[in-house]
Amino acid sequence: MTSSTDKILVLDFGGQYNQLIARRVRSEHVYAEIRAFSSITPEEIIKEKYSGIIFTGGPNSVFDESSPHYDPKVLSLGLPILGICYGAQLMAYMAGGEVTSAENSSEYGKTELSVSDNPLFIDVPAKSTCWMSHTDYIKRPPAGFEIIATTDKCPCAAMCDSKRNLYAVQFHPEVTHTDYGQQIIRNFLFKICRLSQSWKMDNFISASANSLQKTLAGKNVLLALSGGVDSSVAAVLLHKAIGSRLTCVFVDHGLLRKDEGDLVEKTFSGAFGINLIRVNAQERFLSKLKGVTEPEKKRKIIGEEFIRVFEEEAKKLEKTEVLAQGTIYPDVIESGKGDAAVIKSHHNVGGLPKDILFESVVEPLRDLFKDEVREVGLKLGLPKEIVFRQPFPGPGLAVRIIGEVTKEKLDILREADAIFRCEIENSRYVLGANQYFAVLTDVKSVGVMGDARTYGRTVVLRSVATDDFMTAEWTKLPYEVLEKASSRITNEIKGITRVVYDITSKPPATVEWE
Ligand code: XMP
Repeated sequence: MTSSTDKILVLDFGGQYNQLIARRVRSEHVYAEIRAFSSITPEEIIKEKYSGIIFTGGPNSVFDESSPHYDPKVLSLGLPILGICYGAQLMAYMAGGEVTSAENSSEYGKTELSVSDNPLFIDVPAKSTCWMSHTDYIKRPPAGFEIIATTDKCPCAAMCDSKRNLYAVQFHPEVTHTDYGQQIIRNFLFKICRLSQSWKMDNFISASANSLQKTLAGKNVLLALSGGVDSSVAAVLLHKAIGSRLTCVFVDHGLLRKDEGDLVEKTFSGAFGINLIRVNAQERFLSKLKGVTEPEKKRKIIGEEFIRVFEEEAKKLEKTEVLAQGTIYPDVIESGKGDAAVIKSHHNVGGLPKDILFESVVEPLRDLFKDEVREVGLKLGLPKEIVFRQPFPGPGLAVRIIGEVTKEKLDILREADAIFRCEIENSRYVLGANQYFAVLTDVKSVGVMGDARTYGRTVVLRSVATDDFMTAEWTKLPYEVLEKASSRITNEIKGITRVVYDITSKPPATVEWE
């Protein structure tokens, strides 16, 4: 939680862009918090000292009884408000304007916007392009409001009551298709709310380290470190605050990528001098996975074994009162809870044991978006290899080996994966690919090497581009990259006779093969 009162409330009415709005505000160095409209009253808004409010869009129509409505008192709190799309219609509806619906006035996509002279539109040209997505529209603004923008089909594309600092836009300033969207957000923050730019990662680091020092005074803290971005940044931040009272447990289950375990150890134990317990549990995981071929069963075994190992290590430690977790803001919003005492069932650590008793849980990154976490990581001196690491599944290479997981297969896959990643990273196409890796199948085929017949395994190369990993497109890697990777893999790794490239998007496929 920021100590500053320079903060914006993003009042969420179910719009698909709610996180994007908060990120746009934060990119201007102003702290923004998303709250569901049903989770906060106007009285609480005042108590929590917000400096301005943004009403998000939403899929509903204000006429629908069941659609999200809000206490009209919010308009008289004396706080500046910007309503966006549904939020704009809701503002009009609450203040007594006329909102109507007409098929022929719906707009979708890029639309020409004409704006008048208004603080919201400082440095916005009289005509520009905005992004529209609506069927209902404001036909008549409420008393006290004036129309400040129009489009061909929309008589009121923006309105304001400048006396009360209430502003509303029918279009979406938060999406990049609105040419001057960021400028409009900037105007709202700095010309209308008159905020200062206090949300800076340097400030965050020092404020957060100070507050962790206070709340964790005299206490020992345990963190499950996976080597992924979130737990890594949490570790370094906590270490800055409480030094040797932090212990990190890094479970090396033997399913990591080439040299990954050593990189984690070298970084945290070596460079940062953090108390790190690396548990070399490779044999243990392999023996549990022996003979198992079913993907879900593999995941379950790995998750459960992870818990057992972590639990054993935690019990060995003397008096550890606090469990730390690398939960970040999207996790908090998506879980809808925001309850610090609930131990998150984290993908990467397989769900931490509820029966290990900790007095409390600390989540130092729970206010940050991923890009902010990365910025903090860089500022704290974490290497780029860790800060910009691609996502890696908790069950590791086990879900990239089809069929039974064995040491031999793991060794082959690690090498093939390292070669493919190296070839992509050496090419300039790395920017277009968000996740790229190799998969080892059980399919064997005939090959020829020199004059001899070979019979070996098939490696699949997979590379995808995605924003959110819910959907993904296979990347059109240049042939030269594929050719080089294929030739190196078949030449350098014994046992591989064939390399294929996965050209399936998600859906219908998933990113991982298992
Ligand atoms: P799928 O295969 O579901 O993957 O399309 C989407 C994204 O999630 C990652 N993934 C996981 N991450 N634990 C994780 O921490 C898991 O069990 C897991 N399974 C998939 C995957 O790498 C991709 O980025």
